[in-house]
Amino acid sequence: MHTRLLVIQEVDSGESGKALREAGECLRKGGLVAFPTETVYGLGGDALNPASSKKIYAAKGRPSDNPLIVHIYRWEDIYRVSSSVPAQAKAIADAFWPGPLTMILPKSEEVPYETTGGLDTVAVRMPSHPVAARLIEYAGGFVAAPSANASGRPSPTSARYVMEDMEGRIDMVIDGGEVGIGLESTIIDLTVTPPQILRPGYVTQEMLSEVLGRVDLDVTALRADSGQAPKAPGMKYRHYAPKGELTIVSGPMDQVAEYINAKTDAHKAAGEKTGVIGTNEALAEYHADVVKSVGSRQDELEIGKRLYRILREFDDENVDCIYSEAFDTGGYGQAIMNRLLKAAGHHVVSLGDKGEL
Ligand code: TXA
Ligand code: MG
Repeated sequence: MHTRLLVIQEVDSGESGKALREAGECLRKGGLVAFPTETVYGLGGDALNPASSKKIYAAKGRPSDNPLIVHIYRWEDIYRVSSSVPAQAKAIADAFWPGPLTMILPKSEEVPYETTGGLDTVAVRMPSHPVAARLIEYAGGFVAAPSANASGRPSPTSARYVMEDMEGRIDMVIDGGEVGIGLESTIIDLTVTPPQILRPGYVTQEMLSEVLGRVDLDVTALRADSGQAPKAPGMKYRHYAPKGELTIVSGPMDQVAEYINAKTDAHKAAGEKTGVIGTNEALAEYHADVVKSVGSRQDELEIGKRLYRILREFDDENVDCIYSEAFDTGGYGQAIMNRLLKAAGHHVVSLGDKGEL
């Protein structure tokens, strides 16, 4: 299959408008189109068409028990996909939609089990990216879209990475530039009391609690030893196993740098290529072959935005073993550490008594 790459500058300009209409038409006919959202690129298909959802699983190489998020572009459409929309849903939609927040609700009959991975609940999100919003409208209003990576790779933050994983497997890729956030949306389950965050993201536990009162976090989000299975089926898979072995080192920064240097020196002596994921503040300390900064500790948004790109870069550079600094787990740090822990298969070394984990 030839994958067309369409570059969109301004949603409402003549050329781009035409391209988006074409992409919408492609989705209506059962095709697959990758598109930018404010979080990561999505791999879209018609959410109400079981054949489209099956094609999404095939293109990604994703297990079909891992449900897809249904993307809508206006509030009232939530009643088409959910049979029971609680007042809490309206309250958080008013506060955070359109935006990087996904709600789990009871599904309606219109949503096929192929889309929900056999579940009676449905994940719904209204993205704020103008390209995504317009594409969903042109597609008929309901677009199922997992992240547009091949299963097991980090979610793509630019069209280049979508093409890397999906070229030849889908009909079109819409290039709308680099995404703003870089980590997938927050997922909150509204079918339980109190509501529970299944995947932390840009909309934090604190932000949701301000609207909903008590909100819990799935214990598996930051711990591997809880003995429980994650509630979001997708979170049980190791999202991304870099080719190199990734270890997170937490503790006082001077000890962290010392530990990482001792390890990378030893690996180097054994002929291995070493890497470090560090922050601007400590970058000059490291001896590894490839040292990359995820940004400043003062700017968590930047860290979230760079994380997946850096993980892909370590693969491109064939690094054998990678050490990463750890991050605070409050606020947005919850999302950053959740993704980093998954990439590391929860392999963490804690130093000193000020270990952050
Ligand atoms: O930011 C995002 O959410 C991106 C963009 C493209 O919108 N999408 C995304 O989709 O991250 P995906 O498929 O990569 O991740 C969806 C997650 C999976 O972990 C899946 O198991 C969970 O949502 N999920 C979907 N439906 C669910 C349901 N009914 N109950 C529990 N978890 C669900
Ligand atoms: Mg994904």
